[in-house]
Amino acid sequence: MRSLPTCYFLTAAVFGLSGMIWGIQMSASGDHTLAPAHGHLNLIGFVAMAVFGTYYALTPRAAAFRIAWVHYALTVLAVVIMVPGIAMAINGQGETAAKLGSIAALLSMGLFIYVVARNGVGAGFAASDALAPVPRPDHHPAE
Ligand code: HEM
Ligand code: HEM
Repeated sequence: MRSLPTCYFLTAAVFGLSGMIWGIQMSASGDHTLAPAHGHLNLIGFVAMAVFGTYYALTPRAAAFRIAWVHYALTVLAVVIMVPGIAMAINGQGETAAKLGSIAALLSMGLFIYVVARNGVGAGFAASDALAPVPRPDHHPAE
């Protein structure tokens, strides 16, 4: 299984790419009606997830707890419920999904407060490993 920070960054990049394609589509069509949904796909999907991923990469001890995966799932859930929810609210199709997504987003940030308060930043991080030169995959040291 991929590491938690990798999952955060991969998901963030997929949300970010989708948000940018949506932004280009809005620009091209001249219809900016759904701009807040596009904005929050980028802001929570890309920005917040990348910030969380950075934190877990810097704090392996926090990433080792199962609650860190709960945090990841909750953040993904917030995005996939909230973004269509905002679009639905704008289109007059009801606000339930936007409200549920917002609650998931709040819980995700609340959980982040708990994780940071409990673990601090940097626990389990070996700066010497991070700064050491990484051999290229095709580089085979003398056998
Ligand atoms: C290819 C990249 C992007 C394109 C083409 C794009 C395009 C747009 C367009 C056309 C609007 C509507 C502007 C208006 O009506 O005033 C908009 C709004 C917005 N975009 Fe983007 N965008 C891009 C990337 C991003 C990124 C990376 C973020 C955040 C990290 C972002 C955040 C926002 C926000 C917050 C709004 C305002 C939403 C609101 O009015 O509530 N966008 N964007
Ligand atoms: C529970 C989570 C959130 C809720 C319920 C929420 C709600 C809202 C609402 C109702 C608006 C006004 C949309 C409109 O123009 O019609 C808005 C705009 C905006 N939000 Fe959020 N938001 C949330 C999280 C965030 C986060 C995490 C960020 C940044 C990382 C963010 C950044 C913005 C920005 C930049 C705008 C656009 C302001 C503008 O166009 O003047 N929001 N948000």
